Amino acid sequence: MELPPRPTLFDFHGVSMTKYFTDNWDNIQNVKARPDDILIATYPKAGTTWMCYILDLLYFSQMPPERQNSVPLHERVPFLEIQMPGFPSGIDELNELTTFPRLIKTHLPVQFIPKSFYEQNSKVVYVARNAKDSVVSYFHFDRMNMAQPEPGDWNSYLQRFMDGKMVFGSWYEHVTGWWEKKQTTSNILYLFYEDLVEDTERELSRLCSFLGLSTSAELKRQVTEKVLFDNMKNNKMANGSTDEAFDFTISPFMRKGKVGDWMNHFTVQQNEQFDEDYEKKMKNTDLQFRTVL
Ligand code: A3P
Repeated sequence: MELPPRPTLFDFHGVSMTKYFTDNWDNIQNVKARPDDILIATYPKAGTTWMCYILDLLYFSQMPPERQNSVPLHERVPFLEIQMPGFPSGIDELNELTTFPRLIKTHLPVQFIPKSFYEQNSKVVYVARNAKDSVVSYFHFDRMNMAQPEPGDWNSYLQRFMDGKMVFGSWYEHVTGWWEKKQTTSNILYLFYEDLVEDTERELSRLCSFLGLSTSAELKRQVTEKVLFDNMKNNKMANGSTDEAFDFTISPFMRKGKVGDWMNHFTVQQNEQFDEDYEKKMKNTDLQFRTVL
């Protein structure tokens, strides 16, 4: 199938977006959530796919093996706001789901979450990743994903990230917006990519206690093994290889999976400018990230 030209960014209620995530807006906003729904919310490149796979395994690994072997992860965990011509929308896929709970992925900033999720007290697992590794990962993703705007060169991309001119808007506003929301609701678990890399099994235990799951130590160990970077990279149902917009000759989707890869991309000068700007943007929050382990 021939792909349409890359989409362009535009301002959508104060957030940079592309049409693929706004064209279905009314249906998204009118979605009927359920109390047992679990939203996996992230700024892009924070380990969304990783968390989707972890939750899918925690809930459904005991189901017949066809699910794990032949249903791509993006069908098991619909992407709420996506709507691309020629493909079922996230809402269509959500309506097809027959599993309980429903696992739902979103990159929406907190102010765009359909109100039904709050009314139904659905749970949210938010994963955040440090800004420097996020922008590096996003850059390589935008290079290989033809459904994203043209990334341009690294230096201009970094500047655009600092300006919040990325799909799904400003990283700074996204992570702090969800962080503030978490202070006033017990239904949000706020996790960090760096913690997941450091000790996946420990974070799995935090997840299970938040979700009220009495998962056995053996199942936790099995899940931890299955979601190791190298195992996921070789898993055709979870490594992005079913996505027609990805050009793997440019970059893999499962790229490095490390904390600190930003050091291979930022020049000393870029790093200084970034740090200075970061301090200004993040001065009113107590949210802290680790950029090295
Ligand atoms: P890198 O580009 O730094 O390698 P998302 O799913 O939100 O798009 O995030 C993608 C990022 O998460 C990529 O980062 C990818 O390699 C990383 N990732 C995916 N699965 C992972 C895993 N099992 N362990 C560590 N990192 C993982």
